[in-house]
Amino acid sequence: AEGIVVAIDGPSGSGKSSTAKGVAAARDLWYLDTGAMYRAVTWWMLRNGVDTTDPAAVAAAAAHPVITMGTDPAAPTVQVDGRDVAREIRTPEVTTHVSAVSAVPEVRERLVALQRDIIARGRRQAGGIVVEGRDITTVVAPDAPVKLYLTASAEARADRRSREVSADAAATRADLLRRDRLDSSRATSPLTRTEDAIELETTGLSLDEVIAVVVKLTDEAA
Ligand code: C5P
Repeated sequence: AEGIVVAIDGPSGSGKSSTAKGVAAARDLWYLDTGAMYRAVTWWMLRNGVDTTDPAAVAAAAAHPVITMGTDPAAPTVQVDGRDVAREIRTPEVTTHVSAVSAVPEVRERLVALQRDIIARGRRQAGGIVVEGRDITTVVAPDAPVKLYLTASAEARADRRSREVSADAAATRADLLRRDRLDSSRATSPLTRTEDAIELETTGLSLDEVIAVVVKLTDEAA
């Protein structure tokens, strides 16, 4: 039998990654962080001197970086050309440039194909896969049996993220809002909530509470 797909979208700091990892671990599923893939491509562009503000230059280089993802929720990995870049992709420099790079259709086309490939393998080789990002419920896996849109107040999101990266809360908040604006307004695959995605407002909830809700939805759909 084919395994399940749990698709989770939402803005930065909404708790997608922690939730997706927790659900995958609880049900022994694969885990895919698609944001890490856009970050990995962005890291490669910066390292190779590609002007990330020039969509034509980004498009021309989009086919070059080879991205490899490890899908164990207890120890997810991301490699570019065989090099582990888990730390490098979380720097403020990558975070600043990632929305511009991810707005380029050639980048998205390539990564979406890779994501669908990983999802298909997760369905065959594991009990399924939990995938998180911005366009999973709308573009990457619109037929997923479980589709969720996670939200939280801007304050709660900035608070969580600044604790994660131990940065100033006000600066983190400004950066989150800037990225949300770019990610929601781009022409190709903007972050949007579809009618059939279940919206989960997580502001007052603990991580364990959110995971429990999603595990229950997953069990019901399996
Ligand atoms: O999830 P994370 O904040 O690491 O994602 C980094 C960036 O990657 C987002 O701000 C967005 O620009 C891009 N992204 C995307 N589509 C996805 C996942 C992430 O465009 N499915």
